[in-house]
Amino acid sequence: MNMPENDKQNLAMVTCTAPVNIAVIKYWGKRDEDIILPINSSLSVTLHQDQLKTTTTIACSRNFQQDRIWLNGKEEDISNPRLQSCLQEIRRFARKRRNTGDSTSDVNSVSHKVHICSVNNFPTAAGLASSASGYACLVYTLSQLFGVENEQLSAVARQGSGSACRSLYGGFVQWKLGERSDGKDSLAEQVESESYWPELRILILVVSADQKSVGSTSGMHTSVETSQLLKYRADVVVPSRMEEMIRVIRQRDFTAFGELTMKDSNQFHAICLDTYPPIFYLNNISHQIISLVHRYNQYYGETRVAYTFDAGPNAVIYTLQDHLPEFVQVVRHFFPPEISGEEFVKGLPVCSADLSEDLKRDINMDPTPKGIRYIISTEAGPGPCVVKDPNHHLLGADGLPKKSAI
Ligand code: DP6
Repeated sequence: MNMPENDKQNLAMVTCTAPVNIAVIKYWGKRDEDIILPINSSLSVTLHQDQLKTTTTIACSRNFQQDRIWLNGKEEDISNPRLQSCLQEIRRFARKRRNTGDSTSDVNSVSHKVHICSVNNFPTAAGLASSASGYACLVYTLSQLFGVENEQLSAVARQGSGSACRSLYGGFVQWKLGERSDGKDSLAEQVESESYWPELRILILVVSADQKSVGSTSGMHTSVETSQLLKYRADVVVPSRMEEMIRVIRQRDFTAFGELTMKDSNQFHAICLDTYPPIFYLNNISHQIISLVHRYNQYYGETRVAYTFDAGPNAVIYTLQDHLPEFVQVVRHFFPPEISGEEFVKGLPVCSADLSEDLKRDINMDPTPKGIRYIISTEAGPGPCVVKDPNHHLLGADGLPKKSAI
């Protein structure tokens, strides 16, 4: 229960953070576009919030005239239907609790208007989807404010953005597609926690690109309408891949995990190509990264590194701690950076490594200077957290964004 911090003004305020997640079995296609029900289950790894997170403060007060939202310093339209779905659903849960008398929260607060202020600690320009962490943080913070604890929270986040439901948990998370038409069984569930596979490391290779990609919502709509491969994937391929992925994660079998991750990314991009008109998310640099990973693995005769790509050209690399320094050096060698050493690799520190002439020769690729802008080095991390320190609130006592949040 996180109720009034400032009784005099009848202002209640809560701040939370939520993580980004990267799918290894991709969600692509909806069977219901209104309440966002997928045509296949999916599975992701939650990334650590020390490197990538959304922070959201929500205040409610009887003095507020209307619901308002500020995203990364700019006031946005609160009437966005996905935003409205999330707000309505949480308020409905809160009222239900109040009626059944098991709510310890301020009984009136649910009828008050809210002010929402949200920021990402990563640049939108990095091309990383922020809708997953954004909606997960919105829903989690609302639930804390109104004292709603409910296993249906991921179903609410899902209605903001499908992939957001997976950001409500840490570690390895599956989103089961469910069978019901009301979506009550289309929920996220933790497979294993973030501490289950401590050697696993994640690199985000931020690729230089000027073109803006087709958004995932409209992209998957066109795929559902036109791609026959998509139906085959949903009906035949994903059900067995989900089982296999869960098994290899539980066995901490990197070879099998890496191979399945790459195959699933490739199938998703094959479906984009099978969509009519086709959608191209990968660019030349993405293709070069794919070749580099396969040549690197070939050199060692085993899968040491795996790539996956979402609805844009950036690569996400999964590898094990032991192989990380050398692979980062390989990336530096074949994509000589514009910026100096430390700035090129952000996030968790990576040790330096030497490359053998043999390895460079075997990879046999021409270096592409400045093809990769920078790397974010991270690992699996926990789900949403409440921020206790009131100094970290993004809204001031007047209920408006603090200067620091703009
Ligand atoms: C390629 O969750 O962004 O990242 O539900 O329309 O908001 P909407 O789509 P979104 O789609 C994510 C697609 C993906 C794969 C994945 O994360 O599973």
